[in-house]
Amino acid sequence: MTMTAPIQILPSPPYQTLTLELSESVTLVGRVQVPGDKSISHRALMLGAIAQGETRIHGLLLGEDPRSTALCFEAMGVEMSSLEQDWVTVQGIGLGQLQEPADVLNAGNSGTTLRLMLGLLAAHPQRFFTVTGDQSLRCRPMDRVIQPLTHMGANIWGRQGNRLAPLAVQGSRLQPIHYHSPVASAQVKSCILLAALMVDGATTVSEPSLSRDHSERMLRAFGANLQIDPESCSVTLEGPARLTGQTIVVPGDISSAAFWLVAAAITPGSDLVVENVGINPTRTGILEALQAMDADITLENPRQVTGEPVADLRVRYRPLQAAHFSGDLIPRMIDEIPILAIAAAFAEGTTVIQDASELRVKECDRITVMASQLACLGAAVEERPDGLAIRGQVPLQGAWVDSHGDHRVAMSLAIAALRVTGKTIIHRADAAAVSYPSFIPTLARLCALAAPPEPEA
Ligand code: S3P
Repeated sequence: MTMTAPIQILPSPPYQTLTLELSESVTLVGRVQVPGDKSISHRALMLGAIAQGETRIHGLLLGEDPRSTALCFEAMGVEMSSLEQDWVTVQGIGLGQLQEPADVLNAGNSGTTLRLMLGLLAAHPQRFFTVTGDQSLRCRPMDRVIQPLTHMGANIWGRQGNRLAPLAVQGSRLQPIHYHSPVASAQVKSCILLAALMVDGATTVSEPSLSRDHSERMLRAFGANLQIDPESCSVTLEGPARLTGQTIVVPGDISSAAFWLVAAAITPGSDLVVENVGINPTRTGILEALQAMDADITLENPRQVTGEPVADLRVRYRPLQAAHFSGDLIPRMIDEIPILAIAAAFAEGTTVIQDASELRVKECDRITVMASQLACLGAAVEERPDGLAIRGQVPLQGAWVDSHGDHRVAMSLAIAALRVTGKTIIHRADAAAVSYPSFIPTLARLCALAAPPEPEA
């Protein structure tokens, strides 16, 4: 008897245009590991670079985004071992010691690289830096960090009234501030905290609701003096800091795990364990959202790994129900909303996601793009100024869809393809490499597929 693969994935890497077609339904069973957390990977590289002594990192994400961070800091004189090694070592050069790079620093697609790095660059007196990014990053708002840094005394210039990259930075001695951020953004908060490391006195940042707190946890581990007030969502850093190199084990990224959680939650018969996932409470909004939709998700083997909570996540298929999501939950699952929209398309009833206008300034406008791409597949979706309304259980048909160069959109559409009828062709699917380079091979493995065929010579 010949075994035919239940899913056809064409062509071979780098999957610029990916065709997915199921010949029979798949169930997702077994165990899967996800790559290292992207946010923690950036911070480990950056704090390692500016600390005294060596930092050792295990489980670093080898995606395009952390590679951009590594290249930027290497261009400023920081030595790192090959990122491909099991343990990556960063030789810290000490606070205030970044060298003036001979060329433009390129953050690629990575908002975290550009915004966090800007806080450090602005606080380096007598040094001049220019920074840019890819087409997507050059459209994303930088004024949200430039304004508070300017209040601290920074000199930063950019396109469109100091709003967009490319940016020029003339480093200077900064002053402490008390800043109320209008958005719950870990990138804004972290940018100011990194600048504050080199400032005399106490700098406070508060935000409307709590965004991810990886910077706070890691800064403390490296020796910074931080006071956190959860009541007012504020954090105060007393500078100047002394940072010492650390050993960091990066947990699996819950944002990457979310694709498998949803895949199993919408696929009858599935029973999947996603191993070693970071479950920092500022990131677990997606678990709460899926559980509110009646998904069967349990946490197994909870543990602490270098200051971050970690667990294995087991998901068993059970029909999903629609739910409404808004308020403080949104920043705690901001990167998972594209895949949550896919879950909503398979739930009974109408799911509403609101207070999520931040999605419009991510790697693409994720509200418009998810609405248009779900509509291409035949979903009943309404685009709203601050979110989406999705009526679930409308039968979906394979179609030609486009990630718009956004890694999370590409992977969300690939998961949807598991439950549509016919062929789904995803344009610009290679964007997945930004945060999850092994996503397509893992999808193929989980669908019990032999390696995708080689292209014909
Ligand atoms: C990140 C913060 C979030 C998130 C991004 C990573 C970080 O952005 O969307 O993918 O590592 O600090 P905002 O802080 O702008 O919401």
